[in-house]
Amino acid sequence: MSTLAERVQARTELTRPDLEHLKALVAEWQLLADLSFADLVLWVRTHEGRWLAVAHMRPTTGPTTYATDVVGTELASSDRLDSAWRSGRIVRDGDPEWHDTIPVRKETVPVRRADRPVAVLSRDTNLTTARVPSQLELAYLTSAGELVQMVSEGTFPFPSTDPDPEHAPRVGDGLLRLDRTGHVVYASPNASSASRRLGVPGDLVGAHLAQALARVPAGPGRLSEPRGSAAVAAALRYREPRDSELEAGGAVVALRVLPLFPGGAPTGALVLVRDVTEVRRRDRQILGKDATIREIHHRVKNNLQTVAALLRMQARRMADPAARSALEESVRRVASIAVVHETLSTALDEKVGFDDIADKVLAMCAEVAATGAPVEVVRSGSFGVLEAQLATSLAMVLTELVQNAVEHAYPAGREGRIEVVVRRQEDLLEVEVLDDGAGLPEGFDLASSPRLGLQIVRTLVGADLGGSLVLEQRRPRGTRAVLGVPVLPSP
Ligand SMILES: Nc1ncnc2c1ncn2[C@@H]1O[C@H](COP(=O)(O)OP(=O)(O)OP(=O)(O)O)[C@@H](O)[C@H]1O
Ligand SMILES: [Mg+2]
Repeated sequence: MSTLAERVQARTELTRPDLEHLKALVAEWQLLADLSFADLVLWVRTHEGRWLAVAHMRPTTGPTTYATDVVGTELASSDRLDSAWRSGRIVRDGDPEWHDTIPVRKETVPVRRADRPVAVLSRDTNLTTARVPSQLELAYLTSAGELVQMVSEGTFPFPSTDPDPEHAPRVGDGLLRLDRTGHVVYASPNASSASRRLGVPGDLVGAHLAQALARVPAGPGRLSEPRGSAAVAAALRYREPRDSELEAGGAVVALRVLPLFPGGAPTGALVLVRDVTEVRRRDRQILGKDATIREIHHRVKNNLQTVAALLRMQARRMADPAARSALEESVRRVASIAVVHETLSTALDEKVGFDDIADKVLAMCAEVAATGAPVEVVRSGSFGVLEAQLATSLAMVLTELVQNAVEHAYPAGREGRIEVVVRRQEDLLEVEVLDDGAGLPEGFDLASSPRLGLQIVRTLVGADLGGSLVLEQRRPRGTRAVLGVPVLPSP
């Protein structure tokens, strides 16, 4: 069985950030399938202009449309998929199509990243059991409609999420729908039971959720951030998903808050609710020192993401382009530290596989270039396992070097390619960042460069990593940065 990444890379021209976007979509789309009562099929356009199905999700809330697997299906052409792809708009077909004896309604949604579609999502509903929808079904379908609109606008999946598939709540566990003021307009029966177990008084529908949760007395809890009421408020405010756990009356309930803003206008949020009392009780028995450290990393990551979100909001308000770009850079710096903590929060000990971190950081740098022509960032070679304390500094140095290549080697939206070549020797890690762009300015001197970026790099390389850095002209053109870092031998 090939993975989504392999299927996409072998057959399409999609870039690494495009692929990350599709992976994030597929990580979250069980929710969308469940709310839609529909099968979801992800189609990509191949080199030859054909359509290839690369992923498929069945709903757990309703009948499937496809008894057999769809992945791998190829179409030489499809008017329906073409039309969503070309127009960038959702295409709703009037008449159902027939699959064997099953009537199927298909809706075609362009999956947008940055300013263009990168794939097409088909929402295929089995109409055999269609009837007048209940209140629950209406609440689900409305939310699903808003989510697919966000898919077509590039705002769902959320960029900063790391859903933990094992513990993340699902639709079947319990669902609340909030309006834009944070009041509950719909509560599924499971969500109502969970809230009663927490001791939230009265009916949830009509209540202001953050206020109702704020009245839940704080339990001893684990170190999860933020508190339920803060999570709801923050998700609505920063338009980012938030996870939280509440503990009261002997019950532990996990919340995942997903803000909805189709068309850029906030319409409220979905709150997935799951009773995790049993899971947590077992967790607690095995919660040792390592787990506590991981929890702290998780919490630091959340806080850093909040800082990044605040800076991003402030950047958006800046009229002065220089001030705005300075703030946007700070967002990037904070976000790359958050990536490291995210990885550390899942690490088993004080060592981390750095390739994962590097790829996320590189994708983030390429993302910044997405406003202009595509700049591709490719890594070759492996970083291997590094001591956790090196990871933060190395991630920051890498961000700055690659960011410089994106910004200065390929200014004004030039297309370009940046190579990150990694060589891991016994006790030395060597990383080259190569571009074939504009080259260093006349009279450039690393030691006396007055700008902040390289000063940060020099400090980190010298003081934190105990390593070396050379920045030189490349022939015939471009720039070569070589970083050497002493490391402990890999196990
Ligand atoms: N890959 C590169 N290609 C061309 N010029 C580069 C490259 N890397 C660095 N430079 C030059 O070195 C200068 C200093 O880089 P530095 O990262 O310190 O500052 P900056 O990128 O201008 O600003 P910031 O502090 O926001 O990073 C840049 O302004 C640029 O002129
Ligand atoms: Mg720079």
